[in-house]
Amino acid sequence: MGCFAFRSGKTRSKSQPPSGSGARSPPPPADALPAKSAPAASDSSGASSGGRRSKTSSSVSTPTTPTRSIQELSDERGAQRLRVFHLDELGSATNGFSRALKVGEGGFGSVYRAFFRSAAGGRVVLAVKRLNQRSLQGHKQWLAEVQFLGVLEHPNLVKLIGYCAVDSEASKHRLLVYEFMPNKSLDDHLFNRAYPPLSWRLRLQIMIGAARGLDYLHEGVPEVQVIYRDFKASNILLDAEFKPKLSDFGLAREGPTEGKTHVSTAVVGTHGYAAPDYIETGHLTAKSDVWSFGVVLYEILTGRRSLERSRPAEEQKLLGWVRRHPPDGAEFRAIMDPRLGGRYPLAAAREVARLADRCLGKNPKERPAMRDVVEDLERVLQMEPPPPPADKKGGGGDGRRPPSAKR
Ligand SMILES: Nc1ncnc2c1ncn2[C@@H]1O[C@H](COP(=O)(O)OP(=O)(O)OP(=O)(O)O)[C@@H](O)[C@H]1O
Ligand SMILES: [Mg+2]
Repeated sequence: MGCFAFRSGKTRSKSQPPSGSGARSPPPPADALPAKSAPAASDSSGASSGGRRSKTSSSVSTPTTPTRSIQELSDERGAQRLRVFHLDELGSATNGFSRALKVGEGGFGSVYRAFFRSAAGGRVVLAVKRLNQRSLQGHKQWLAEVQFLGVLEHPNLVKLIGYCAVDSEASKHRLLVYEFMPNKSLDDHLFNRAYPPLSWRLRLQIMIGAARGLDYLHEGVPEVQVIYRDFKASNILLDAEFKPKLSDFGLAREGPTEGKTHVSTAVVGTHGYAAPDYIETGHLTAKSDVWSFGVVLYEILTGRRSLERSRPAEEQKLLGWVRRHPPDGAEFRAIMDPRLGGRYPLAAAREVARLADRCLGKNPKERPAMRDVVEDLERVLQMEPPPPPADKKGGGGDGRRPPSAKR
């Protein structure tokens, strides 16, 4: 994975975050940690802003109001919202970045469970992501994350609490502090046999939440359109109630400016999820995210990853395999995840596959808008019989109880 959408900020002295033109010191937040300015950077590659998008399922949304750049918005709002943490503070909250508190690892670095004291004296659990020390692309992704998540706010996006940047002659540190998501990611629950299988109903509910998150990015922010670029099961984190939140905005980009249909950019993302038209041309639109959404829809139907090298050759590429079992065909049922144990309504599953096929349309203009995807999935959810009363606590509709949330 690589991302060079943002120029890196200037080097600062120890414990000072990089600051930009909009640097300011907002009042400290109610529960104590000092807040300073959000770091700034400029987008060097041309697509600086978007605008309010008309709610339409047509090809590319049209800006209808004056636009702002994410950097402007970040200077204005991120500076107010985000807290600057000291490295020492994050060190002690994670017990010196102890392996025992490590909850995951990705391309950016390691993620830790971290314990803080609230102003009232209680214990607060947060997640701390620490950039790999020698990662070159890390700063750009860290900065994108701070800028986008400092501005964006939605129930289906993970909340960024603050950040830490330390540049000294001896070392550089980049960290991010998030709300803690106790139930790992959709990837873990779909593909890791250590977890009980997700019920059909819960799979749909998770995808509806994720679709709402994407719809917000594409059309819900008045001043700017955001293209996420890294939609995949491991970036859909699950809270204590299994509500999904999109994480990882390191590859996010602003959408096309007024009058333009796409952003031209270097191709980044995760193999198996990126739209072929984007890979071929470098032309990025919100419809690139819609393609990735279609891939994950097939993952929740089949319980298979978009690419599985351990399978027989003709089954390694998920999309190639499912195309041989079309939604209206007699063989469709063969693709369904055996871990569902047949506990799903076939008509609803066929509907989801038809929707996935539309998301995976060759022509990006013909792919649905995320708002239409949300509506379709909500309709499919209504096709469900209500879960039996005994399942109420489990929320799964088939007797599955979510694993208890560790705090
Ligand atoms: N806010 C959070 N709360 C709790 N756990 C988290 C949080 N953020 C990340 N994690 C855990 O850390 C893991 C690694 O996350 P990370 O985003 O670094 O990598 P990834 O998504 O698995 O891979 P990639 O680098 O390709 O995005 C996640 O799968 C999740 O289990
Ligand atoms: Mg991730």
